[in-house]
Amino acid sequence: MQITSFKQYEEDYKKSIENPEQFWGEVAQNFQWKKPWFKVLSWNFNEPDIKWFEGAKLNITENCLDRHLEKNGDKPAIIWEPNNPEEESVTLTYKMLHERVCRFANVLKRNGAKKGDRICIYMPMVPELAIAVLACARIGAVHSVIFGGFSAKSIADRINDSQCKLVITADGAYRGNKQIPLKDVIDDALIGCPTVEKCIVLTHVRTPVSMLKGRDVWWEDEVKHVNDICEAEEMDAEDMLFILYTSGSTGKPKGVVHTCGGYMVYAGYTFTNVFNYQPGEVYFCTADIGWITGHSYIVYGPLSQGATSVLFEGIPTYPNASRFWDIVEKHKVNTLYTAPTAIRSLMSFGEEPLQGKDLSSIRVLGSVGEPINEEAWHWFDEKIGHGKAPIVDTWWQTETGGIMISPIATVTPTKPSYATLPLPGIQPILVDENGKEIEGNGVSGNLCIKFPWPGMLRTTYGDHERCKQTYFSTYENLYFTGDGCLRDEDGYYRITGRVDDVLNVSGHRIGTAEVENAINMHAGVVESAVVGYPHDVKGQGIYAFVINPEMHGEAELTKKDILQTVTRVIGAIAKPDKILFVSGLPKTRSGKIMRRILRKIAEGDTANLGDTSTLLDPGVVEEIIAASKALK
Ligand code: WT7
Repeated sequence: MQITSFKQYEEDYKKSIENPEQFWGEVAQNFQWKKPWFKVLSWNFNEPDIKWFEGAKLNITENCLDRHLEKNGDKPAIIWEPNNPEEESVTLTYKMLHERVCRFANVLKRNGAKKGDRICIYMPMVPELAIAVLACARIGAVHSVIFGGFSAKSIADRINDSQCKLVITADGAYRGNKQIPLKDVIDDALIGCPTVEKCIVLTHVRTPVSMLKGRDVWWEDEVKHVNDICEAEEMDAEDMLFILYTSGSTGKPKGVVHTCGGYMVYAGYTFTNVFNYQPGEVYFCTADIGWITGHSYIVYGPLSQGATSVLFEGIPTYPNASRFWDIVEKHKVNTLYTAPTAIRSLMSFGEEPLQGKDLSSIRVLGSVGEPINEEAWHWFDEKIGHGKAPIVDTWWQTETGGIMISPIATVTPTKPSYATLPLPGIQPILVDENGKEIEGNGVSGNLCIKFPWPGMLRTTYGDHERCKQTYFSTYENLYFTGDGCLRDEDGYYRITGRVDDVLNVSGHRIGTAEVENAINMHAGVVESAVVGYPHDVKGQGIYAFVINPEMHGEAELTKKDILQTVTRVIGAIAKPDKILFVSGLPKTRSGKIMRRILRKIAEGDTANLGDTSTLLDPGVVEEIIAASKALK
């Protein structure tokens, strides 16, 4: 199933469009099924109702573990690199990983988990996180991994939305020179989570934690009570595999649902192709498993292909800005898949951190999460790839399950800042505001997909109508991505950014409404409006316009209080970079905030505000402009 020439890409692409069922049916033969499907695809984008590999039975962990044991059991599956470089790294072979997953799967059963139950995972980037994820999949429980940067309230909202029965966490996490008290955060969250019966706690940082009798148990104790034999639960191709919460343009995050069969096929197929993975190579994705990139391209994609996946606990700048390069040298990394924000941050340290580092093992580079600017692209290409490693700029989303538009390493000619061409099976289309197709090249519009692919979301947990409204109702018979996109003269795609009220801050997806709701929870705040603005390292920064008449004279302190409020309500990742106190917001006569104007002001582009004649009170704009100029 690996594409090795551009001609083959063109042929496969053509076939995938002309006969999608045959195409994906053949791809799926490369996986292990307990029972075959009777129909490859049935679909309807109006409901939406999408089924891939109907009737087929499988367990994704047999594809990620068992099927590699005989030939590659002693091959490294996961290489764990700890936060502290002085500590030993840990290698888990496929045999070891299989054994630990089975053992922990039995721990889950012992604690009352069964097929279909939802399990929340809130853990540091340690091997046990991958083990926990796979153990859920082993017994057919649905995992909902929550990124370690979210607050207790965010966790509680997610746990309650999907009624999780179990939580898996650790005492704490290391992040650079900081320690994050994960169990404390979970304790706060669980006060408001009546469905949670058990909490399994891994010892990691050895900080004191409270252990509630009857609810909390230690990971290390539990594994002693079970053996390591656990048969994989037989799952239907369309049974739920996991839920992953992501932000949209409304205040409440959505639980994106992925299912077992299609997701597995898509994650595995895209992994082996996009990165041109070769047996024996070491692959390093720097994402966190708390995001979709980690699900698909640290755990399921690489392991389904018998690859060696590096799992890094720390951050790119600890103990210094050489850390990624030290890891590349130490583990002889062949593929490095990271985010533009990390590249830009490391660029800012200059060349010194690269001195004397042996990066000769690198063969393929990847970028994900946000548009990569040309300067970052060239730096990545020259300084890290030494002009010899193709860069795959991979465009996709939590909802798509896997990479959608991207070069295929060594196959597709690349172009700086372009995600280039759709992968086989992917049918992108650009439309105008009315949903009319924009044909031809040298055009731009809103990016939609007009045909299903195996890795696509099936629903949003507990609220199918919301899935329909968000993705399938804007334009008839199309999946709407929320992204703007340009197709150049060569037919190459370049993603230009979100066209909805969703921000991309350091590759983290954050809804403006979510941040506004959090700010508005602060005592004294009457109203707020949040927009994004260009930020050198983060891609986008968060700019908040806030009406707060009662500041007790201390504006700077009040700003800090607001930041603290946002940290409590969502998490530190959603903290505004700039807060501007204003006495009013630009509104139309019907009361709608004109964000267009606020965006211009946040960008510092106040000369081109466009038409302001429909404003209720044009004077407020003058006041905001004057105040914004005084803001650092
Ligand atoms: C949004 C999805 C998919 C993994 C990480 C983010 C933006 C993603 C690219 C890229 C330009 C990109 C889009 C998309 N995005 N990759 N290569 N070039 N933009 O997943 O949190 O679901 O965010 O990230 O705006 O809609 P996510």
